[in-house]
Amino acid sequence: MGQIENVLSENRAFPPSEEFRAEARVSSEQAYQRMHAESVARPEVFWDRVAQDLPWIEPYDKVLDWSDAPVAKWFSGGKLNASAVCLDQHLETIRSGKRAIIWEGEPGDTRTLTYTQLHLEVCRFANVLKARGVKKGDRVAIYMPMIPELAMAVLACARIGAIHSVVFGGFSAQALADRIEDGGCSAVITADGGWRRGKVLPLKKEVDAALENLAAKADAPEVHTVLVVRRTENEVAWSEGRDVWYHDLCAEASTECEPEPMDSEDVLFLLYTSGSTGKPKGIVHTTGGYMVGAYFSTQMVFDLQDEDVYWCTADVGWITGHSYIVYGPLANGATCVMYEGAPSEPHEGRFWEICERHKVSVFYTAPTAIRTFMRWGDEHVERYDLSSLRLLGTVGEPINPEAWMWYRRVVGQERCPIVDTWWQTETGVIMIAPLPGVTATKPGSATRPFFGVDAAILDEDGKELGPNEGGLLAIRKPWPSMLRGIWGDEARFRETYWSKWAGEPIYFPGDGARKDEDGCFWILGRVDDVINVSGHRLSTMEVESALVSHPVVCEAAVVGRPDDVTGQAICAFVTPTKEAEVGAALIAELNAHVSKEIGKLARPAQIRFTDALPKTRSGKIMRRLLRDIAAGVETVGDTSTIEDLTVLAKLRGFED
Ligand code: WT7
Repeated sequence: MGQIENVLSENRAFPPSEEFRAEARVSSEQAYQRMHAESVARPEVFWDRVAQDLPWIEPYDKVLDWSDAPVAKWFSGGKLNASAVCLDQHLETIRSGKRAIIWEGEPGDTRTLTYTQLHLEVCRFANVLKARGVKKGDRVAIYMPMIPELAMAVLACARIGAIHSVVFGGFSAQALADRIEDGGCSAVITADGGWRRGKVLPLKKEVDAALENLAAKADAPEVHTVLVVRRTENEVAWSEGRDVWYHDLCAEASTECEPEPMDSEDVLFLLYTSGSTGKPKGIVHTTGGYMVGAYFSTQMVFDLQDEDVYWCTADVGWITGHSYIVYGPLANGATCVMYEGAPSEPHEGRFWEICERHKVSVFYTAPTAIRTFMRWGDEHVERYDLSSLRLLGTVGEPINPEAWMWYRRVVGQERCPIVDTWWQTETGVIMIAPLPGVTATKPGSATRPFFGVDAAILDEDGKELGPNEGGLLAIRKPWPSMLRGIWGDEARFRETYWSKWAGEPIYFPGDGARKDEDGCFWILGRVDDVINVSGHRLSTMEVESALVSHPVVCEAAVVGRPDDVTGQAICAFVTPTKEAEVGAALIAELNAHVSKEIGKLARPAQIRFTDALPKTRSGKIMRRLLRDIAAGVETVGDTSTIEDLTVLAKLRGFED
């Protein structure tokens, strides 16, 4: 495996500059050591101190209750409201007039909202939801473009205690329908459309199709409201009674709305993520612990200072956007940049133009984006004045050392520390990352555990491995922002995350990793059948099911193969029916089908037709072999369990 060799030979290290260190929130190795040791040994003491920073409506009486493990209770008895943490607490301070969101639409339109203005808009939005009968505990699906109303919708739900379930705008109607159904959502917030690569993404149309699909089902939830924000002004179909324009209701709504006092363990949101088998999992996050984690990790990992202009380029549809566009930065009273569209629109320097225009100082993006910029060429970056940048971040998948070095040299001008942050939808917040004023960073390593994180490398039997031995990443202690479950499926929650090792509950994130002699972690990627395309997890199972739902497909096996830009690309092996006419037209049709079922991001980069798939005697598809074939490498390891070796030989002979 190239990836493992590549990182093993990597031994460059970059300590923070004296200049950066001098201004940093945490600036000495001793401080990190002392704080980390305390956070793991006495989490109740450590997190109690951190939690004091938040504006509790009622104080908690216990920091951590782990008696019902693996379901943790943090800050029980306490009451707070996430939107008040993000907004109201700043209004009485000097931050009231500070910019909360600086937004750019893809076509070039802009909006700026101060904390006072954002607060007002969120209150109004919350009242609109109330007027439509949305109550505490109701689930609300949010399917929106990256416009300020997306952040408002999220915060408005939090304000009234409704549980938001944001579905990324790139997902198809079918994927949206599945998530609405699983979450039992009774309202949907959307927009007529959003701008992406100069075109309108017709979101309302997808919502209509999703709800039509659900209407045909017997026990699907009834969606009483589709609240539509006007963005692109494209024509939309209208279902009287159900569909309402946001701007119509907004005009009548009051701008005052008291935040609902929520219990620490009341659910704040659901966010769906892929696993290797079965339907997507609705990851459950609750209010108190999540907010403490989001607040504190943003402040520490990004060394957030009051004058920073912070830009996380993710979409709010992913956990990165939840924790590091909305909740974390706003809880800290930061000024955040938000951008609607594609990085290439209208030119390849758009991101750097935005950085220059708004004097972005902290910039957080994904390896897949960095590799794309690298390929587009340095000149697009160098055309802009990036002297405002002081810190860079990355998240989503292991970053290749080459891309890391490029990021450091060309974007960071060798001045900015890079924080490579490892975490997951389930962990809620960053778990392994450098502290930029302390940690010597290494290209390709997320470095050391964040406060409160007891990370280790274990083998299958739970034995801790030595330096540089590759094994399974494990988290041995609960942390405030950890998931509280999978919506409606407690058995799957226990099975997926807590059953890898016997004894005390240990969290298994599903990643392989090693730890070097300095205690730095090197993530090696997923150990299950989950593919990571452009930093987003997709389950092979879901793509396979989508393919098999096409009438000419008998069977399908989907694997990831290495890709220079997207990290992994989807490669599908398809067994067609006898009648099927195999060829380019069918490939195009299957691609369109997968787009429709899941979304464009799940379209296979390659589809190969085959008469049979390699299987074990017990009938299991041998994805390991297919992975090697897709990557074009020799198969190493055991093929003795394969039922019919000629299948393998045939597959090998295939040309693209
Ligand atoms: C999986 C989680 C966390 C927000 C984005 C993805 C991979 C994530 C890194 C990193 C190496 C990483 C892991 C993880 N991953 N960040 N810095 N280095 N791998 O969230 O969809 O829940 O995916 O992404 O494999 O398990 P997600």
